[in-house]
Amino acid sequence: MTDRYCVFGNPVSHSKSPAIHAAFAAQCRQDISYQAILAARDGFAASVHSFVAAGGRGANVTIPFKEEAYRLATRLTARAQLAGAVNTLLFDGADILGDNTDGAGLLRDLSLNLACPIAGKRVLLLGAGGAARGAVAPLLDAAPAALVIANRSVARARDLAQGFGRSGSPSACGYRALAGQSFDLVINATSASLAGELPPLPAALFASGSLAYDMMYADGGTPFLAFAGEQGAARLADGLGMLVEQAAEAFLLWRGVRPDGAPVMAMLRPIDPGIAARR
Ligand code: ATR
Repeated sequence: MTDRYCVFGNPVSHSKSPAIHAAFAAQCRQDISYQAILAARDGFAASVHSFVAAGGRGANVTIPFKEEAYRLATRLTARAQLAGAVNTLLFDGADILGDNTDGAGLLRDLSLNLACPIAGKRVLLLGAGGAARGAVAPLLDAAPAALVIANRSVARARDLAQGFGRSGSPSACGYRALAGQSFDLVINATSASLAGELPPLPAALFASGSLAYDMMYADGGTPFLAFAGEQGAARLADGLGMLVEQAAEAFLLWRGVRPDGAPVMAMLRPIDPGIAARR
């Protein structure tokens, strides 16, 4: 019998998740269906419960429901707990397992697809919201030489850094305090690109050979990647790889088999020499 999965979001019509999971299912010979479900902003829990009642086996969760999914889950994985947000649900009777595969997806994209190991690197994480929170623990686990969290609201960056008080604990600052520092990897986890904006970054942020990574994916690039290119970052990457790899990690949780993300990324990547050629 075909097992049902979906992604809940609002808006959700733009989501690439149905295409990604259809490709994974074909690649791994899994009999599943996957649809996008538009949940009302005040109707997420009701949408989940009716999907489960109709036989749904699992779901992805996207904007703006990741925190609500965290609260709805009856059990959480350790990485979902650390992230404070859930992007993947697994249904088993009345049990709802909440997981967060975003950080793992980011790390897999960096280490496998982009051949950018984190160990010993100076890493700058821009932003201190939900997207940044999910990335901190996996980045620290990869043993960077330094992890700096910079945010418009410095207090929010400090709160985030303090939540990970352990060896290699990240430092926190505002954008101005970055002047004079350079990094091997700069990750934009702000939502600025969504609005076509750019955090106020100082010049000379990108060390020689550095990678600029925007978690946001947009056909034609993002303001952050345009800035990084002008500033001499050696490589530019948008969030398409992270999107595919977080989906592969969710597929693994649901089906027990890990799909290969590379052919699916190639299928989704439009002809965009500006970004693709420099990955
Ligand atoms: P998300 O879940 O996408 O991370 P969020 O929790 O609302 O969304 O966080 C948005 C992040 O983008 C924050 O770090 C925010 O900075 P503040 O905490 O100072 O508000 C950052 N952000 C959004 N627009 C920005 C802009 N134009 N310039 C700089 N940072 C911006």
